Amino acid sequence: MHKTLEVTEARRLLTGGPVVLVTTAWHGKKNVMPAIYVVPLSFEPPLIGLAVHPARHTHDMIRFSEEFALNIPGRDLIHHVQYLGSLTGAEYDKFELTQLPTFKARKVEAPLIEGCVGYIECGLDDALRVGDHTLFIGRVVAAQVESEAFQETWLLSEDDLKPLHYLGLNYYSILGSRLEARVPRPAEEEPEKTLEEAVREDLELGREEQEKRREEEEQLKREEAEGS
Ligand SMILES: Cc1cc2nc3c(=O)[nH]c(=O)nc-3n(C[C@H](O)[C@H](O)[C@H](O)COP(=O)(O)O)c2cc1C
Repeated sequence: MHKTLEVTEARRLLTGGPVVLVTTAWHGKKNVMPAIYVVPLSFEPPLIGLAVHPARHTHDMIRFSEEFALNIPGRDLIHHVQYLGSLTGAEYDKFELTQLPTFKARKVEAPLIEGCVGYIECGLDDALRVGDHTLFIGRVVAAQVESEAFQETWLLSEDDLKPLHYLGLNYYSILGSRLEARVPRPAEEEPEKTLEEAVREDLELGREEQEKRREEEEQLKREEAEGS
């Protein structure tokens, strides 16, 4: 059964990407706000889109300073994230208030927040009005990541080293484990096999294996129930 959603609620189905803390600096003042409307847009040049509502103080900070940094927090900053998203830098010095320690970025003035699992520094390439948000197009000028958390992909080996994800309201999550998918093999590995045969083998076998695993799990549950 499918439940109908309001069209304005569709965006919630796409949430789940990592939360970022957007840091900015302008004329000796700094600010930070959480954001999830963040999307990679281009490989070369490396561009990232960040949608910010014009009512946010961060909006002015990015417009004036023409740069920003994205800090990717882990689960230990969950309460900070919620606080930083509930207060505005137009009224409060959120760094002072939340006692967040920072360190110097490599290429931008915006500070970086200690204890995050990754950092991306951006210069502002463009700003487009999209509906009721401004899509800031950031050009990545530096990036760094906690080495135990990431090797080509997030490793997800330790909960404390996983990026934090946002579900909506004041709910967050972290991802489970990293699952490895089969990839099409290059033809030279098995020249006698057509692509169709390899695909059938990989995907149909996958399904059979899943079926077998499900049966084994059910058998195990039955045995446990009988034993207890
Ligand atoms: C988890 C989370 C994600 C958010 N994502 C965005 C976003 O992508 N864009 C946006 O404009 N506001 C977003 N917000 C709202 C701002 O963070 C919030 O309005 C904040 O107080 C603005 O701070 P500022 O006025 O100091 O810039 C988000 C809030 C939370 C809690």
